[in-house]
Amino acid sequence: MIYTDEVMKHFAEPQNVGELDDANAVGEVGNAKCGDIMKIFLRVEDNVIQDVRFKTFGCGAAIATSSVATQMIKGKTLEEALALSNKTVVQKLGGLPPAKLHCSVLAEQAVKAAVADYYTRQGIDPALFVNMNECDEHHCCGEGGNCG
Ligand code: FES
Repeated sequence: MIYTDEVMKHFAEPQNVGELDDANAVGEVGNAKCGDIMKIFLRVEDNVIQDVRFKTFGCGAAIATSSVATQMIKGKTLEEALALSNKTVVQKLGGLPPAKLHCSVLAEQAVKAAVADYYTRQGIDPALFVNMNECDEHHCCGEGGNCG
């Protein structure tokens, strides 16, 4: 299995690892395929993600995608964070081996879960903005919607 230099860089030195004491949104998701887990912490102010951390109990590809996803959403609006797809994350990493594409779904779903948590805490129905089931609609992994 061949990983790009960018994947190896983020795996060796993942960015934004840990927890945020002053987080006002937390999302946790599990990957149905492998049982791996990602948790993401956000501090949102004025609709902008001021800070973000993650903890991933998972494989190297999951850690690399988590790392790059946190970099991509930091300083972005909630709408921009929701637009993050696992495909974009994989592109940013220069690609992943096909067998590891499902790992990148974890990062996309964890970001969405955290934003949904933020809306819930604000008394807003997250279903109005966050489509957690998008993954089932086969856009994300090229595996016919079976991406877990
Ligand atoms: Fe589980 Fe990669 S094998 S996230």
